[in-house]
Amino acid sequence: MPKATPNLLIFGCGKMGSAMLAGALAGGWPASAIAVVEPHPSEALADLQKRHGFALNPARPGGAKLVLVSVKPQMLDAAAPAILPWLTGESVVVSIMAGKSIADIARRLPATTRFVRAMPNTPAAIGRGITGAYATGALNDDDRALVTRLLQTTGRLEWVINEGLIDAVTAVSGSGPAYVFHLVEALTSAGEKLGLEPAIAARLARATIEGAGELLFQESETSPETLRRNVTSPGGTTAAALEVLMGDDDGLTALMTRAVAAAEARAKALSG
Ligand SMILES: NC(=O)c1ccc[n+]([C@@H]2O[C@H](COP(=O)([O-])OP(=O)(O)OC[C@H]3O[C@@H](n4cnc5c(N)ncnc54)[C@H](OP(=O)(O)O)[C@@H]3O)[C@@H](O)[C@H]2O)c1
Repeated sequence: MPKATPNLLIFGCGKMGSAMLAGALAGGWPASAIAVVEPHPSEALADLQKRHGFALNPARPGGAKLVLVSVKPQMLDAAAPAILPWLTGESVVVSIMAGKSIADIARRLPATTRFVRAMPNTPAAIGRGITGAYATGALNDDDRALVTRLLQTTGRLEWVINEGLIDAVTAVSGSGPAYVFHLVEALTSAGEKLGLEPAIAARLARATIEGAGELLFQESETSPETLRRNVTSPGGTTAAALEVLMGDDDGLTALMTRAVAAAEARAKALSG
């Protein structure tokens, strides 16, 4: 990371703020350029502060180039007056608050026009997240590059071209880890119905998803379709299951389409 790394303020350092903080530190963001505001620092945050020496709840705000707003959406009104003194006209506010539109945020933080709305997901905590982000036209190329650097410290990043698509990102990758966890539950339950001991079925299902996920990760140049075909012999057992899973009207694609549409509709309703 270059020497003159601009100042980063993390406002609200719970689960996701901590993941972003850990990512920034691991990615080489200098601790001297980081400030964190968090009313109730966890023990882990206090330990991290002791080890790295970033500013935690500094008495006086300084101008911050990047301001990550990672409080719960319903806390924005209460937090805004404390965020404002950190902002200059050149600050870029990066919000990860679910369902808070840029118009909502801009109304409360009018000191800048540079806003990014981002939706990370929980594997960010292990550096394997994926974030979808939208930026207003007020950001210049340097701002965008800086935000890219920050958001990529917790994994991958996709920019979308209009703010409405953040609801689709939320529905696919933001909520997506829960779908995969449920897949483990469903596979476990199916195994139990075939007579496997529940604990064994659970271990088989879990390790299968872990291993398949890791294969996807390691074989990033190979499409999921090819990976699937590679393990499906014609007329074999996998093919028999896939015939059910890939049914046109009642297969997994149809079910996932309905599930993701429901998540998107909920995201839109929450954004008001
Ligand atoms: N977790 C996810 O998977 C995920 C994914 C995408 C987006 N998000 C978004 O990320 C944001 C944070 O979620 P989270 O799961 O990390 O929630 P969280 O663990 O509750 O973190 C929010 C933190 O903000 C702190 N806070 C509250 N009011 C504050 C104030 N006025 N000034 C400074 N800090 C304040 C809270 O402190 P107290 O606990 O002491 O109140 C808490 O530590 C949410 O807006 C959520 O929509 C989360």
